[in-house]
Amino acid sequence: MTRMVIAGNWKMHHGPSAARKFFEEFSPRLSEPEPHIVIFPPAISLSTAVESRRGRPEVDLGIQNIHWQPKGAFTGEHSARMAMGAGARFALVGHSERRHVFGETDAEVELKVSAANAEGLTAVVCVGETLEERRAGRVKEVIVRQLNAALSGFSQEGGKSLLVAYEPVWAIGTGETATADDVVAAHGILRSWLQESVGDTFAADVAILYGGSVNPANAADLLALPNVGGVLVGGASLEPESFAKIAEAGSP
Ligand code: PGA
Repeated sequence: MTRMVIAGNWKMHHGPSAARKFFEEFSPRLSEPEPHIVIFPPAISLSTAVESRRGRPEVDLGIQNIHWQPKGAFTGEHSARMAMGAGARFALVGHSERRHVFGETDAEVELKVSAANAEGLTAVVCVGETLEERRAGRVKEVIVRQLNAALSGFSQEGGKSLLVAYEPVWAIGTGETATADDVVAAHGILRSWLQESVGDTFAADVAILYGGSVNPANAADLLALPNVGGVLVGGASLEPESFAKIAEAGSP
């Protein structure tokens, strides 16, 4: 049985000392059997997080954003290769804040997915519609366009893996969660697209996470929905207690 993926996106929270403190309190709260936990600290806290989860090597770590070049004159950026070297195994790509706050385009998302893919980092491709797009009945068009663009250079050769996250922009950090019907519909669209475009066998192994105001009270219900293979949690992943409760909800 595939384990649920419980991912925590810390965004620009928890510098190195707060990251260390988080793991000191989080690790003892984890109960067996565990879901697959992946935490995305700020890049500056990645090495500290790698050291701090030492007693829990099964907790994976990821980077929140990468540049598509392996190295070069790109002040302030981090490459997929550097993230791997620092201990990351996953990379968020195309998170809505990258798209909407930093103006990241579908084409840049594609370059980042390909860079992650080439270096052996598992990309977590984030897609999701804005409220205006939802109101205009454009959910399918938008999420399929984003996924199609993101994966146009993706190769599954060599056992490469992939995660997809459906995060409606209007549900992120707002306390407003998508309804069960919204989630089932969107995840169904993404699953069908994957089956048609990358093949049934590969698509069956791609976990599609839901993200947007996930918390300890709603996690179990969301995780029980068809085609939901995990959750991507922002605010509620910052506190060890609440994130451990969400992990428990995803326990096999
Ligand atoms: P939220 O963020 O859980 O705080 O809504 C989710 C995300 O941005 O991944």
